[in-house]
Amino acid sequence: MPTHYRRDGDVALLEIDNPPVNALDLRVRAGLEAGLRRAADDPAVMAVVLCGARACFPAGADINEIASGAAFHSPILLELQAQMEALGKPIVAAIEGAALGGGFELALTCHGRIAAPEARVGLPEVKLGLIPGSGGTQRFTRLAGPAATLEALTSGAQLPAARALAIGLIDAIAPDTVRAAVQWARRLAGGEPLPALARAREDKLAVPEPDLFAAFRAAHARAFRGQLAPWRIVDAIEAACTRPALEGFQLERQWYLECRESPQCKALMHVFHAERAARRVPQAGPQVAPLPIERVGVVGAGTMGAGIAVCFANAGIDVTLLDVSREAVALGLERVGALYGESVERGKLSGEQAEAARARIRGAVEYSALGDVDMAVEAVFEDPALKCQVFERLDRSTPPRAILASNTSTLDIDRLAARTTRPQQVVGTHFFSPAHVMKLMENVRGRASSPQTLATVMALARRLGKIAVLAGNCDGFIGNRMLQYYGAEAERLLEEGATPEQIDGVVEAFGFAMGPLAMRDLAGNDVGWAIRRNRALPADERWSPILERMAAQGRLGRKSGRGFYLYEGRERRSDPQVLALICAVSRELGIERRELGEAEILARLLHPLINEGAKLLAEGIAARAGDIDVVYIHGYGFPAYKGGPMYWAEQEGLAKVIDTLEQLAPSHGARWGPCAHLRAAAARGGWECLTRR
Ligand code: COA
Repeated sequence: MPTHYRRDGDVALLEIDNPPVNALDLRVRAGLEAGLRRAADDPAVMAVVLCGARACFPAGADINEIASGAAFHSPILLELQAQMEALGKPIVAAIEGAALGGGFELALTCHGRIAAPEARVGLPEVKLGLIPGSGGTQRFTRLAGPAATLEALTSGAQLPAARALAIGLIDAIAPDTVRAAVQWARRLAGGEPLPALARAREDKLAVPEPDLFAAFRAAHARAFRGQLAPWRIVDAIEAACTRPALEGFQLERQWYLECRESPQCKALMHVFHAERAARRVPQAGPQVAPLPIERVGVVGAGTMGAGIAVCFANAGIDVTLLDVSREAVALGLERVGALYGESVERGKLSGEQAEAARARIRGAVEYSALGDVDMAVEAVFEDPALKCQVFERLDRSTPPRAILASNTSTLDIDRLAARTTRPQQVVGTHFFSPAHVMKLMENVRGRASSPQTLATVMALARRLGKIAVLAGNCDGFIGNRMLQYYGAEAERLLEEGATPEQIDGVVEAFGFAMGPLAMRDLAGNDVGWAIRRNRALPADERWSPILERMAAQGRLGRKSGRGFYLYEGRERRSDPQVLALICAVSRELGIERRELGEAEILARLLHPLINEGAKLLAEGIAARAGDIDVVYIHGYGFPAYKGGPMYWAEQEGLAKVIDTLEQLAPSHGARWGPCAHLRAAAARGGWECLTRR
């Protein structure tokens, strides 16, 4: 049974035991109902403690049941909560591990909550396109007040126990959590004043500033754009503060059901599963043990190198940051210092944590400093000859066991592997910029990369807190190979009559974090141009001259204060000179500029992604369509609530995607022709037929 009933003297312990995360599926709920009934009926039981097996409080409702509808089979969570509140005996939650979603909603229904020091609590439903549906918004607000609740529930944050205690969500922190909860429950039964149930509390409901909700909505309008759940969460918290209790609970349920039916919820569930499926690498099954990585070398102390060093150090791994000169190394360490300064300023790390992590990074100019590393990551400029040289030197100076990884975003891993005596230990680890912030790690499998090398870099990504996808080796791998036509198309649109503001506006309205031209400015137009120069182009294709000209004029992007836009800090402004440059290019190419509609701009940017994605699947560069979605969401700002480009294409209908490509192909070139694999997937009802297991 996934729920155990035990007695500790006069206290009944209800323990939920449903591996891996004790999700509250129907069997668990049935067990809880029976256990609560038994505790209520037994006169020898004076109090109840709710806890989870394997030091893990339930991490939520069962996500698969939410999708299938089984979460609505009685007893539902709301019925259990009513049973708990009517128990007539004190009930205390002993929280170890992660108490999330429905799990935390159960804890919030208890009289009190004691958590382990390392426990985390939260209501992360927004990440699944949902709002908490079992009183979570109402009880959380009653315990923590509206301001803290707005932040926590719209971000879906998992709060550390100390923070949860500070804002009133839990009552105490105790290392021997279950024992402490049993003792407290016993004291409550013995006459210690019983804390009021959250449902009945009103003392924190006063709104500190009259315009709290309006100001919060305005401040988050851009972040929440296009989504339903975060807005509904704000509505529900406002209802907790302004409506009678019963009405607040009813509205929350109504909005939960609305969100659950939304396409956004379905898309985010797809992303949840895709992120986890991406970890399963067909080339390295669970029987392959990853190698331990405790010391790494990072070669190249530029922006990427410094960011990568910080990722490792934050995960407790010692780093040697190497560059060619003392000045370059000093600059790199300065960059590292600045990144830690920022982390402390933003409250991501405490001063001590930052100092401890920073102390794990030391600089070096000699390759001999890498004599004891388990792995080296090359992060030098994107120049094939330079990278080959670095790999030769790494092969000579690192221990034979060490893995040699390249942070290249496009170059051939096999060419680098060929410069070493250990091609089986050579792999790509493509971090995204800024490396210490971006979640994605696109690991790249060379022809000779061994299963253990692959298992090691996939496990490493988890340790670094990254979401990993394994790509095959080709020009641009998954992300940049798809992006090259997306980026090229943005420049074609400019040549034909669109402005940077119009293109970025359409893409950002679709939900991308950033449009393609703003993204170019962020990455650097000189870098974009340098990458492009190294890439082969099909005979019938041409690159637009716009990017080269931007780079030649010193319009490098944000770093030079001007690119496709003018920059003051993070603010971007239009630059009439850019439009003049674009119009000059149109004239030179003999293109008569015209008005372009939003629909055309969006179609022309998204469809090349999908056509190329189908080819990546067929070639085995990506193992699953979901891998491509994960890459685009976490590396390129595709809106997660639209599920990623491949999921989006399936929702649009692959037949419709083919129609659009066919309409565009005659006037826009051969690569617009739908590829055979896309046609095959359309005929067989989806991408599944191209999946590798
Ligand atoms: N329901 C069903 N299965 C769940 C689940 C849930 N709520 N939460 C996690 N799982 C499954 C995962 O799919 C994964 O399965 P797999 O091994 O077959 O891939 C397994 O549990 C482990 O989860 P994973 O995320 O890989 O482990 P982790 O240690 O990195 O993280 C959590 C653990 C609980 C923090 C994380 O899984 C999580 O955030 N879960 C969702 C919590 C949530 O949103 N709850 C509210 C639901 S309404």
